[in-house]
Amino acid sequence: ELARLPHPPHRLPFLGDVLGASRHTPLQDTLRHARALGPVFRRKAFGKEFVFVWGAREVADLADEARFAKHVGLGVANLRPVAGDGLFTAYNQEPNWQLAHDVLAPGFSREAMAGYHPMMLAVAGRLTDHWDRALAAGHAVDVPGDMTKLTLETIARTGFGHDFGSFERTRPHPFVTAMVGTLGYAQRLNTVPAPLARLLLRGAARRNAADISYLNSTVDDLVARRRTAAGDGDLLDRMLATAHPVTGERLSARNVRRQVITFLVAGHETTSGALSFALHYLSRHPEIAARARAEVDAVWGDAESPGYDQVAKLRYVRRVLDESLRLWPTAPAYAREAVEDTVLAGEHPMRRGAWALVLTAMLHRDPEVWGPDAERFDPDRFEPGAVRSRAPHTFKPFGTGARACIGRQFALHEATLVLGLLLRRYTLVPDPAYRLRVTERLTLMPEGLRLRLERRQAPV
Ligand code: HEM
Repeated sequence: ELARLPHPPHRLPFLGDVLGASRHTPLQDTLRHARALGPVFRRKAFGKEFVFVWGAREVADLADEARFAKHVGLGVANLRPVAGDGLFTAYNQEPNWQLAHDVLAPGFSREAMAGYHPMMLAVAGRLTDHWDRALAAGHAVDVPGDMTKLTLETIARTGFGHDFGSFERTRPHPFVTAMVGTLGYAQRLNTVPAPLARLLLRGAARRNAADISYLNSTVDDLVARRRTAAGDGDLLDRMLATAHPVTGERLSARNVRRQVITFLVAGHETTSGALSFALHYLSRHPEIAARARAEVDAVWGDAESPGYDQVAKLRYVRRVLDESLRLWPTAPAYAREAVEDTVLAGEHPMRRGAWALVLTAMLHRDPEVWGPDAERFDPDRFEPGAVRSRAPHTFKPFGTGARACIGRQFALHEATLVLGLLLRRYTLVPDPAYRLRVTERLTLMPEGLRLRLERRQAPV
């Protein structure tokens, strides 16, 4: 079946389609091939053949949960040593997935979100303090660096009542260094032929094992302390206290550890990237920033801090975020496998267990869906009328089906709140010499993005 699919020209024996490829930008390299090769294609790297899908019709078909399901492969599978059967890395049939999903789902309800809102505001206040200091000193701000501090502190605070002190440190917290280390290792594993990995990555594997044991022991301490004194109804309290509504079962200590690490990892880099891209586009499109700011002023007035409901009312700010996630879906792909022998989109036979990677970033730039100006940043694409007129499954930044992102509302609330606060407080001044470069570390991030700030109004 594979043999019928197009692949890049110039294949090398064993190494495959690696000409012109960089191990630092596997996604962007693949995007370069995608348009020429069409909506379904294959690409071989280091002895492994991967199938990529980005056509709207094919992606919609892969969303059929009766015939397809999440595939735990590549980057996701490489995180199993650290996240095990946590929500993100669990195999579909592992019993702890359903158990944890049912126990944790109420932690992402509207009520839960309203409870996190004041904590999110408090963390955002530390960001604006930090930016006020940069502004007073006349410094530009490091956008991806600061957004990562913000989102890490937010998930740590709302998830586990923890404070990493990111804004007060000059060097990252060792927990963050260990987490970034394991993510980097997981990505590197994809770029080395499996038989050679042991040899080539021996030192890195040792460091990775040390990183994992540091993550585990830090989380175990945190959980142990919490068992003696409950927190304020955060995710960890839920994990420890909630029994399954039907079976009465609880998460094991080992599984709680994995969930905590999962939320810290899954819950921050993606949101940080989304905020960073949005700030980049806002700085480059003053007319869009002005419209967003006018909305914030109209909805929030001069309330000292916005309430939970006032965030959901920022419809245009939300469209800015959606449009940023369209062009740069910060989790840029997800994998689907056939749960039975089937034919994809009536054309491509797939055996049970065969899988393909959905290239979200390419789906989101398909001119047939988004028009000839698909590469242009335009939040109006997300006006309700425009959304209704598009086919379903053409905007998939949060994945699909039962295994789609559980943190979607959390991320959108956090990011909309923060964009609102920043727009209200500052004018964002871009560096005219900056050209968008995107780094890949399982997630996407605008590299080296720095902005200058101007104070817009008296502090509120
Ligand atoms: C799953 C994207 C924020 C927790 C996913 C998936 C995507 C995604 C594409 C599906 C992956 C797959 O099919 O293999 C994003 C993006 C975010 C974001 C773009 C921000 C803009 C968050 C946040 C949290 C979170 C804030 C936690 C608070 C999770 C978890 C899963 C997941 C636990 C696994 C769900 C399951 O399989 O049951 N995310 N995510 N994510 N995400 Fe997110």
